[in-house]
Amino acid sequence: MTTGEPLIVLDGVNKWFGPLHVLDDVSLSVGRGEVVVVIGPSGSGKSTLCRTINRLEPINSGTITFDGTPLPAEGKALAKLRSEVGMVFQSFNLFAHKTILENVTLGPVKVRREKPAAARERGLALLDRVGIANQADKYPAQLSGGQQQRAAIARALAMQPKAMLFDEPTSALDPEMVGEVLEVMTSLARDGMTMVVVTHEMGFARHAANRVVFMADGQLVEEAPPTEFFANPRSERAKDFLSKILTH
Ligand SMILES: Nc1ncnc2c1ncn2[C@@H]1O[C@H](COP(=O)(O)OP(=O)(O)OP(=O)(O)O)[C@@H](O)[C@H]1O
Ligand SMILES: [Mg+2]
Repeated sequence: MTTGEPLIVLDGVNKWFGPLHVLDDVSLSVGRGEVVVVIGPSGSGKSTLCRTINRLEPINSGTITFDGTPLPAEGKALAKLRSEVGMVFQSFNLFAHKTILENVTLGPVKVRREKPAAARERGLALLDRVGIANQADKYPAQLSGGQQQRAAIARALAMQPKAMLFDEPTSALDPEMVGEVLEVMTSLARDGMTMVVVTHEMGFARHAANRVVFMADGQLVEEAPPTEFFANPRSERAKDFLSKILTH
């Protein structure tokens, strides 16, 4: 479900780490409500691409706009951007000394100045949405990996983001917990959230993505709707990559 003008636009983006050209003239546009899955070999720049979108990584040249505005470099505008672009990482990054509900309400109360009671009510609703309302008063260490990752998703959603970035959100999970996290992500996608998802879960890419983007050596090599990409990858690098991950 993609409508109107794009929400995220990268145009001619270059990023170096010293001599290493990690993003090489990357241009990518993500529509509102669109789900873009980014795949590619290790070291191809997928995480860096994600991190540039909420400016965890500054870029060397090119432009990135979010919701029509170039990414701010600092200050309040940057804090606002970070709240509008939720990010979920491989490691859950929950605050260990706060309960699950406190993890979810902290941002809304401190950053968005929501009233604690309102934030709590919304937080509980979000925990319910990701299926862990009954874990609200526990601490992160008392939850399974899958539950912690769902809490991390609820925490990001609590800021009422316009887009969500996921960087290998299921890679650190035991296999039996991957499904419950992908289910939450699939339902978010169905509800119209704009999402950029780095993942090796090709089932998710097939079913939930509007578009698959294949990266190699910092370049965006190929992009296509999932059915087209998986049935008929055009580049040798994509063919080679798919043959490796789909057969293991
Ligand atoms: N902070 C950094 N300083 C220097 N080099 C970095 C830094 N972060 C990443 N790199 C390098 O940039 C390249 C791209 O890294 P990135 O993490 O974006 O790749 P990736 O596609 O996410 O890989 P993976 O699939 O292993 O997560 C790699 O060669 C990596 O070693
Ligand atoms: Mg990565």
